[in-house]
Amino acid sequence: MSHLLTQLQALTIELSISSGQINIIADCFCQTMIDGLLGKYSPLKMLPSYLNKPSRDERGTFLALDFGGTNVRVLLTELFGNGIFKVHARVSSPLRAIDDHYNYISNHSTGDQLFDFIAMQIGMIVKQDQTYPLGHTFSFPTHQTSLNTGTLIDWTKEIETQNVVGHDVTTLLTAALTRQQLTNVLPKAIINDTVGTLLTSAYTDPTTTIGSICGTGHNTAYIEPCEPLTKQSMIINLESGNFDQLPFTIYDKILDDHSEKPGSQRLEKMVSGHYIGEQVRIIACSLFDAGLLAACSNKKILAKPYLLSGAHISLLQEDTSENLDVINNWLIEDLDIKNSTLSDRQALKTIAALVCTRSARLVAATYLGIIKHIDPQLKNSHNIAIDGSLYEKMPGYASALRETLAEALGQKVINVTTTLTKDGSGIGAAIATAIAVHVTK
Ligand code: BGC
Repeated sequence: MSHLLTQLQALTIELSISSGQINIIADCFCQTMIDGLLGKYSPLKMLPSYLNKPSRDERGTFLALDFGGTNVRVLLTELFGNGIFKVHARVSSPLRAIDDHYNYISNHSTGDQLFDFIAMQIGMIVKQDQTYPLGHTFSFPTHQTSLNTGTLIDWTKEIETQNVVGHDVTTLLTAALTRQQLTNVLPKAIINDTVGTLLTSAYTDPTTTIGSICGTGHNTAYIEPCEPLTKQSMIINLESGNFDQLPFTIYDKILDDHSEKPGSQRLEKMVSGHYIGEQVRIIACSLFDAGLLAACSNKKILAKPYLLSGAHISLLQEDTSENLDVINNWLIEDLDIKNSTLSDRQALKTIAALVCTRSARLVAATYLGIIKHIDPQLKNSHNIAIDGSLYEKMPGYASALRETLAEALGQKVINVTTTLTKDGSGIGAAIATAIAVHVTK
């Protein structure tokens, strides 16, 4: 057997998560949730949202601001009740220009500059003679003491804007709206995107108990039957991307060591779209370094961190042609790697599949951990609402996730559904605003 095949077999063993490991991770995740709820040390932040399941009778027209990472979106959304809504207007703008002439997510920008830019995008939709209640989906770990206040605990997804960590995000947004003469826009609620996804799905399907994002970032929220502060049911944002009791490989360590914040967001670094391309690149580099790929003369190109994106990993998996021609064209045209052999391309494809399957299985293990906590006997139906490019578009991802749930739950998997919930962060912000407006009426 060739050295390359032997090395790929070793990688397959290293990156596979067995059924036994799935159960161990699920148990551990469940225990870590309980620790977090009890205020003990836990990598899971268990952040209260001050929201419960929607009544499904939420109605009205609201502005939804969606700030999830690289883009900001503003939607003017009308809710009609029972899952029906209409988006009347929307704008979407990158927070970092392609030619880099502005970049509000680097450490050269401040929170005031970032929120001024966001307020300007809101200004593009609103009329001066109307007032607009606004819900803000802010997809970062935020400590909330009410539905409309939230202090950023830490940036994730490699964002570094200054003077936001430790600040109340609603205060920053309100000040920027005032500077932009938009005092007719009234922030009413701040939510995480996982909470928005859960709300949006539960607006149509009352069995939804879990909302999750499998995209650029990764995180999950769920309905806690007994939130410790209120002793009532409440949606909790787990910030599960920070879970860290996992079977790390040397490649995970390399990625983490070179990341903005080593030691944090360890699950997110193993599973999310922002990092899977980098994992594949690091593993491919190790094969290049060992001289196992014929195209090794081009290894300098692969040395560039974050060269590969989630979309590249999709491309590697989508190519089913006999000679992997699509992969070959991409290597030639985008990476200037002209001398790849079929085994090089097969190796890259195999690595991409291993990394993605591992991601789906780890994510499924965390869902199993949540279900163990909220319904140990699995007596009720649970819909898991999921949004994000990995779940929606990555070949084989959704099926690997569902197969893992079935593998662990056996026949009881009939009680667990997963649904793609698109636009959950935008619609969810409108639903949260409707709830806030109703409560404060
Ligand atoms: C953030 C979460 C967010 C997730 C998905 C993570 O990096 O910490 O708050 O829900 O990305 O956007």
